[in-house]
Amino acid sequence: MMLGGAFSIFMALCLSCLLILIAWKRTSKGGKLPPGPTPIPFLGNFLQVRTDATFQSFQKLQKKYGSVFTVYFGPRPVVVLCGHEAVKEALVDQADDFSGRGEMPTLEKNFQGYGLALSNGERWKILRRFSLTVLRNFGMGKRSIEERIQEEAGYLLEELHKVKGAPIDPTLYLSRTVSNVICSVVFGKRFDYQDQRFQSLMRMINESFVEMSKPWAQLYDMYWKVMQYFPGRHNYLYNLIEDLKDFIASRVKINEASFDPSNPRDFIDCFLIKMHQDKSDPHTEFNLKNLVLTTLNLFFAGTETVSSTLRYGFLLLLKYPEVEAKIHEEINQVIGTHRTPRVDDRAKMPYTDAVIHEIQRLTDIVPLGVPHNVTRDTHFRGYLLPKGTDVYPLFGSVLKDPKYFRYPDAFYPQHFLDEQGRFKKNDAFVVFSSGKRICVGEALARMELFLYFTSILQRFSLRSLVPPADIDIAHKISGFGNIPPVYELCFMAR
Ligand code: HEM
Repeated sequence: MMLGGAFSIFMALCLSCLLILIAWKRTSKGGKLPPGPTPIPFLGNFLQVRTDATFQSFQKLQKKYGSVFTVYFGPRPVVVLCGHEAVKEALVDQADDFSGRGEMPTLEKNFQGYGLALSNGERWKILRRFSLTVLRNFGMGKRSIEERIQEEAGYLLEELHKVKGAPIDPTLYLSRTVSNVICSVVFGKRFDYQDQRFQSLMRMINESFVEMSKPWAQLYDMYWKVMQYFPGRHNYLYNLIEDLKDFIASRVKINEASFDPSNPRDFIDCFLIKMHQDKSDPHTEFNLKNLVLTTLNLFFAGTETVSSTLRYGFLLLLKYPEVEAKIHEEINQVIGTHRTPRVDDRAKMPYTDAVIHEIQRLTDIVPLGVPHNVTRDTHFRGYLLPKGTDVYPLFGSVLKDPKYFRYPDAFYPQHFLDEQGRFKKNDAFVVFSSGKRICVGEALARMELFLYFTSILQRFSLRSLVPPADIDIAHKISGFGNIPPVYELCFMAR
């Protein structure tokens, strides 16, 4: 009886393995994928890829298999690209092939393939072209984007003066001011810093990014087909994003109520114009879903990325006060103490520019990259990636590629300076990605980083609550995103 039971279990196991192998075979679609660790049926490379240290696991695998390898997230093969050469060969040299967006299971239920950042094919092309045009036009409109940032930085400086050098956690200060810049583009308005709804939106965006970067999210990426039916943190993230979506939908209603097609005020109005023009086309991509989700993409990405970079940047400057001192010196020489910093000052401030690049390099906002996908059967380095294969361009490994950065793990602004102290470009600086999916907010983000750093350091010196040697600059969480540690500092009026 006992033996019979064991035999049935054994047979059931064999049968399930066989079924999984058949399903697996189907997933790999007959390509010739790069080598990688042997996966276990259903579990994939769970044993080799630690969900709490994915980046480090990939680094280990890179040592064994080289800069291009395959890992299985559950039954799903994912090709990982490490280092500058491999990432460039894919995203730049074969830009069209690698321009698809890969699976992001943690966000799938919220976005379902709509909105600029997570869409593919014609939809993505149309939304990308449209968004870039609108972002550009609002930058060149009556009030330039530069003026908007300068004005917003002015509000932040007032706020910091009010604190009178008392210790503060900079998180909310930075996210509110940075977010107001993208808010003025997408919603045509800025929010008062005290606005409770605005503050709670900032917390929700920050929390969503933190959630997406936790180990459970990595686990979910592997086993979402099963996990989606069970309770857990993914429902919490889902609800956070749904609340953000509701907020955007409410802004769309406000715009619709006072809409004048001859006088578009913001991104939403421009999209509404397109929706009206195309209203008789049942296949148009200018529909409400794409409007809400693309606006959410811009609002979210336009808030969290720049504010995290500033927050981590100030921490690095606290740790290395000699770098801060040099920036003060350059500000004094080029801008002086009275006039507002301008974007064209950057060309005359190579040291500050180099420091900002180095801060971005170490912030390394999405170390695993945002997943890509091959849009057709793709030959790459002697392998054949079947159409639809997901690809992780490991930006963290490019930003720390020892061939391109002398001291990959150190804070070393000289990475971006030549012997004469002039600014020196570095091809492996891929914080905004490269190729067809390159960040649409790059120009805006670069302006913001320069104007915020210089405006704040022109008026304030940073003071740490602990000696620089005791400051821990390790990221608090490192998963999909790098989350800087929470800390307090004092902004002392100069
Ligand atoms: C320091 C600031 C920023 C960094 C480091 C950054 C980085 C990135 C990266 C790495 C990607 C993924 C590209 C890829 O798929 O290969 C991306 C995409 C994107 N970013 Fe940014 N970003 C920043 C600021 C912004 C801002 C200010 C906006 C808003 C205007 C923005 C909007 C987007 C959008 C909409 C995408 C999706 C593009 C697409 O899928 O075609 N980002 N960004």
